[in-house]
Amino acid sequence: MDRITTIEQYQAEYEKSIANPESFWAGKAEQFFWRKKWDRVLEWNFSAPSVKWFSGGRLNITENCLDRHLQGKAENPAIIWEPNTPEEPGRILSYKQLYEEVCRFANVLKKNGAKKGDRVCIYMPMVPELAIAVLACARIGAIHNVVFAGFSAQSLSGRIQDSDCTIVLCSDGAYRGAKVIPIKEVVDEALETCPSVQRVIVFQRTNSSIKMLDGRDVYWAEELKKADASCEAVEMDAEDMLFILYTSGSTGKPKGVVHTCGGYMVYTKYTFENVFQYNPGDVFFCTADIGWITGHSYIVYGPLLAGATTLMFEGVPTWPDAGRFWKIIDKYKVNIFYTAPTALRALQASGLDFVKPYKLNSLRVLGTVGEPINVEAWNWYDQNIGKGKCPIVDTWWQTETAGIMISPLAGITKTKPGYATLPLPGIQPILVDNEGKEISGNGVEGNLCIRFPWPGMIRTTYGDHERCRQNYFATYKNLYFTGDGCKRDEDGYYRITGRVDDVINVSGHRIGTAEVENAINQHPDIVESAVVGYPHDIKGQGLYAYVISSNQQHDLDLLRKEIAAIVNKAIGPIARPDKIQIVPGLPKTRSGKIMRRILRKIAEGDFSNFGDISTLLDPTIVETIKGDRVS
Ligand code: WTA
Repeated sequence: MDRITTIEQYQAEYEKSIANPESFWAGKAEQFFWRKKWDRVLEWNFSAPSVKWFSGGRLNITENCLDRHLQGKAENPAIIWEPNTPEEPGRILSYKQLYEEVCRFANVLKKNGAKKGDRVCIYMPMVPELAIAVLACARIGAIHNVVFAGFSAQSLSGRIQDSDCTIVLCSDGAYRGAKVIPIKEVVDEALETCPSVQRVIVFQRTNSSIKMLDGRDVYWAEELKKADASCEAVEMDAEDMLFILYTSGSTGKPKGVVHTCGGYMVYTKYTFENVFQYNPGDVFFCTADIGWITGHSYIVYGPLLAGATTLMFEGVPTWPDAGRFWKIIDKYKVNIFYTAPTALRALQASGLDFVKPYKLNSLRVLGTVGEPINVEAWNWYDQNIGKGKCPIVDTWWQTETAGIMISPLAGITKTKPGYATLPLPGIQPILVDNEGKEISGNGVEGNLCIRFPWPGMIRTTYGDHERCRQNYFATYKNLYFTGDGCKRDEDGYYRITGRVDDVINVSGHRIGTAEVENAINQHPDIVESAVVGYPHDIKGQGLYAYVISSNQQHDLDLLRKEIAAIVNKAIGPIARPDKIQIVPGLPKTRSGKIMRRILRKIAEGDFSNFGDISTLLDPTIVETIKGDRVS
């Protein structure tokens, strides 16, 4: 344990981390088990980009998540699992049991041909086997590529192809509230276009009827029967890949963000312990899905590295009713609760009757992640869930950063609703204007960049390093660009204002406008489309699509349904537009660029000031679009 306990200590630690980052991070890294110590703490240049932490160091992250805890914590609960249906018994896996399950499944992977460096795609619901699978990959040095089980077959296929996965791990189906969702069926469809996949291992969760392809598909349980409960961990270099996780950007297809073993390990544990002020014995409940980075870092790796008890929930917050989270908190005496503002807004809208039956007196720390939190939701969380006694940590970070970057330390940093407050030790944020010039001082606003490496930072985008350079390091010289806009107030506190690129944050999920437009444009009648975000009460942002249709007679309801179906198929339900407007044309400049600024304003219903529209090819189009706005 390595915890800051006072604000003075935070300040001292922060200063130390800036004055001498290498010795600062070496000090953190020394607390882990390394098979061989590193030769150099850090080598970096942001123009290539090339960032290496702890190079020459040898380790296996699972020895730090599991083996190390067998002394003294073997019987402590590692994972508490709460199923979708409250009546179904849950499961509790001790560190010893988790260790054995991981070893057994690692042996299954090996027997099915997986070896160090191979890519394994995991497309599963939130069952303990998902966490076990992730760790089993890491145990043998295979690179996991977890795909959120709400993505469509096309999306899944794209991610499998891009990373050339040879094995897919999935379930038969998934429970989601009152629904049973097909999983294996989606995998089957995806694999029609994935020749690299040799093996599919299927976990039976719903006992739905599924097809098994002879020679390719095997059952998880059958394979486990033949597997031994011990498996030597494969020694990895600190800079060997640990995993790939796809995320949406402003252009093109989702990109595979790559994280490596050593730096990721050091960063996730440090941030977990400090931000949440974890105490030994605490039960930690993060409501994310392991299919997203929050689940990777703060359901699986961070808590397990710290030897904590991590709670995994299979279901949804509103089923059987909107009190489900609170029921779980009472049931397992959760101490630290970490969720998304969008969930809080949805639960707030359901009313306090769903909160009142619960005591919630085990709670000590609350957290949020994924999107800016509005002051109303923050206050509701504070008063009704935290009863005014639990500090709220509004944590800003990204898939690319691996862990929390700007956040209060619970109970230490004075909070302010809507503010992520201060950078963690080792993190050097900088605000720049559109030309890349630093905006210094307080009471300012700009584009948020980071000027110095931290151990958890993105190393590359899988199979396309140039894309990584272009996306994150080419906008502003010698800076990592986050894509977010940010304010720094008079107190030096940071408030993230949202994306400044063409990424829309819908219910905390990153959706690239280009991806949605490409999907819509597959519709035979759609000539062109433009998708923008607009403020949405529950989702934070909703998707507003402007489409040009070649079919004048088109029944709008039918067209909406068809577009929804096409987006569902190409991406998944999370990317379905909330509003669709048929337009005769789009506001384009003479060089053919769509002026999204105008479309965003119309979607918002803000007609006050469109700025300079004289560069538009046809300025009259603005009035036409305004007139037909979908409210
Ligand atoms: C947004 C999720 C405001 C931001 C961990 C970022 C936030 C994107 C916050 C990353 C926050 C995340 N306040 N905005 N506390 N946390 N964001 O990759 O726009 O799914 O760039 O990682 O979410 O989303 P991602």
